Amino acid sequence: MTAHKTDEYILAFETSCDETSVAVLKNGELLLSNIIASQIESHKRFGGVVPEVASRHHVEVITTCLNDALAEAKITADELTAVAVTEGPGLVGALLVGVAAAKAFAWAHQLPLVPVNHMAGHLWAARQVKPLAFPLMALLVSGGHTELVYMAAAGDYKIIGETRDDAVGEAYDKVGRVMNLTYPAGKEIDALAHQGQDVFDFPRAMMKHDDPALEFSFSGLKSAFINTVHHAQQKGQTLDQADLAASFQAAVLDVLIAKTQRALAAFPVKMLVVAGGVAANQGLRQRLADEISDVEVIIPPLRLCGDNAGMIAYASVCELTQGHLADLTLNARPSLTFDS
Ligand code: KG4
Ligand code: ZN
Repeated sequence: MTAHKTDEYILAFETSCDETSVAVLKNGELLLSNIIASQIESHKRFGGVVPEVASRHHVEVITTCLNDALAEAKITADELTAVAVTEGPGLVGALLVGVAAAKAFAWAHQLPLVPVNHMAGHLWAARQVKPLAFPLMALLVSGGHTELVYMAAAGDYKIIGETRDDAVGEAYDKVGRVMNLTYPAGKEIDALAHQGQDVFDFPRAMMKHDDPALEFSFSGLKSAFINTVHHAQQKGQTLDQADLAASFQAAVLDVLIAKTQRALAAFPVKMLVVAGGVAANQGLRQRLADEISDVEVIIPPLRLCGDNAGMIAYASVCELTQGHLADLTLNARPSLTFDS
């Protein structure tokens, strides 16, 4: 393929957790490639991501992912406009592999280097569906984060509510472990939930009027779930897995929907974006469709809900436009937040 002088191609790297991913984005809208190498098989037996194992796998496959991303996009290094990379948040050793690869590539080909916040990436995955309109509200739900983000304009992120303890995805994975499900358990609990009933009436935290309106807490729900299962085990009873899943998911979704509705009431916006790994949840998608009617809801396609470099490429567009570049001293920032 011969590139037009006006065409812009961004190469993006994502290695913050357990997916090694490299993507090429054309003109800020068309993903020409989005190679995702998942390491999940290596982590399953440990019931969670082992940081050192993750870093080693990233090192092993990142060059192949890069070559595959360029080949699938039919783009050479000379045609690229910029290199984007996740700088944080995430596992430090894992992030460093992507940052080192992006810096080396940018230096070798004399390209601008664009650092990207992983959570901004999750949010901008929605750009695959259509151009984002501002002001915008985002509900970001992943394995490490649960937050409501208000965006007055592109690149302007303000957290208006977040979890005080566990992230939603983390709660799914922890109760999944108690149910003897394979890590990560979100997808399986979602599937089971559709076959059961909400019979356990688990707590919905911070929903009273005097509670902080937009904050979340999932550790009480997780503990109530674990206690219920353990008490039953002590009495020699086996609880119905589908009912457990349905009850847990109903409690999670009641809170996510209620807090999102409160946020939308407090901050009028043109669009609601729901993104991150948990945005793949079919129950959540159904309830958003049924219960959020006065604002347009955009949810990225399933492949872009989990970690991938395509979302990092989308998020890098406004950073590049606004001149937010890094030099070769760029480091990983494992605790990066929108406010830091
Ligand atoms: O965004 P992500 O891929 O990685 C992080 O940045 O954390 O999110 C992974 C999380 C895991 O906790 C996983 O259990 C959860 O997303 N997840 C789901 C579903 N699919 C993945 N949670 C609920 N329902 C799903 N269908
Ligand atoms: Zn993520």
